Amino acid sequence: MNNDAFKNFLLENQQCNKLYRTLSEQDELLARSFEKVFEMHNKRLGRYATDILSFLEQSEYRADYVQRFINRVKYLNMLQASFDANPIQEKLYDTSAKVDRGDYNVALLLSIIVSNHRLEIMQSLLEFISFIKKPEGRIASVGMGTGYELKLVHESLPKWIIEGYDTDEKAHTDARKLLHYFNITDNIRFGGMFPDDRLSTDTLYDAILLCEIMEHLEDPSSFLKKMRTCLKPGGFIFVTMAVNIAQEDHIYLYASINECRKQLIECGLVTIIEKIIPMTIRSISSAKDREALFQRGNYMAIVQ
Ligand SMILES: C[S@@+](CC[C@H](N)C(=O)[O-])C[C@H]1O[C@@H](n2cnc3c(N)ncnc32)[C@H](O)[C@@H]1O
Repeated sequence: MNNDAFKNFLLENQQCNKLYRTLSEQDELLARSFEKVFEMHNKRLGRYATDILSFLEQSEYRADYVQRFINRVKYLNMLQASFDANPIQEKLYDTSAKVDRGDYNVALLLSIIVSNHRLEIMQSLLEFISFIKKPEGRIASVGMGTGYELKLVHESLPKWIIEGYDTDEKAHTDARKLLHYFNITDNIRFGGMFPDDRLSTDTLYDAILLCEIMEHLEDPSSFLKKMRTCLKPGGFIFVTMAVNIAQEDHIYLYASINECRKQLIECGLVTIIEKIIPMTIRSISSAKDREALFQRGNYMAIVQ
């Protein structure tokens, strides 16, 4: 490492220093990725890193969270290589995989600070939260995972009613622990499958978050159409779609950015803002490059 700004950042952030040292010892590519995220996002990284590392350091994962992350990334890289060699839907997922939900949640959190791609998704989510800002409202996060996105929403929209939905029980336990750690106890309610287990069917939403969930669904088109009916007139949806990203539970293949755009149009949704978020950093210099050089990553849209 010969970057003075990064060295200073590590000196001032001991938890990041520890993370970087472990990554450097065990997985040089992940260490480089962390360094690159700092180079690209600088001060923005600090906020996420402080949140996530201080939470993990006191969590049930404190003894081995970096190791859990490294092992999961190795597994996902193998799955990705197998999909890249034969990019068909059946190679995208692995239903036989026995993935520990703790490892899954640790990776969701740590990837926000070690991969540019996840940090950009969180940044886009924050921009969406600023975009919808008004004093009061109701928002649902479907597939809330670790609950970190609920924390980001609550911080900026403290008077909003927030509903977090996830089909996984451990996601619920971990999300509650995370929110408790950040002293967030008000205005947040939880449900399982959305929209089937909606907490109240006679209330509509000002906003719905669909962050890294669409590729987990068998029929994302029907799901999006249902989401439309859950929105208040003038409400917004934040949606991401993973394109060509293999994961054991990614059962729906989006093979191109245009496929994502087409699905939104077919579901009667109008795109207000879109962003292309590639997995590889070399293709990020301009919006035009992002699309022209795109191979895999996320398509993000704010739709109405
Ligand atoms: C990749 S994680 C994304 C978590 C979080 N939104 C984030 O970006 O960090 C996808 C989540 O969706 C949940 N999930 C999958 N299918 C679901 C469904 N039909 N309804 C609600 N949650 C679902 C999974 O349990 C998992 O926690």
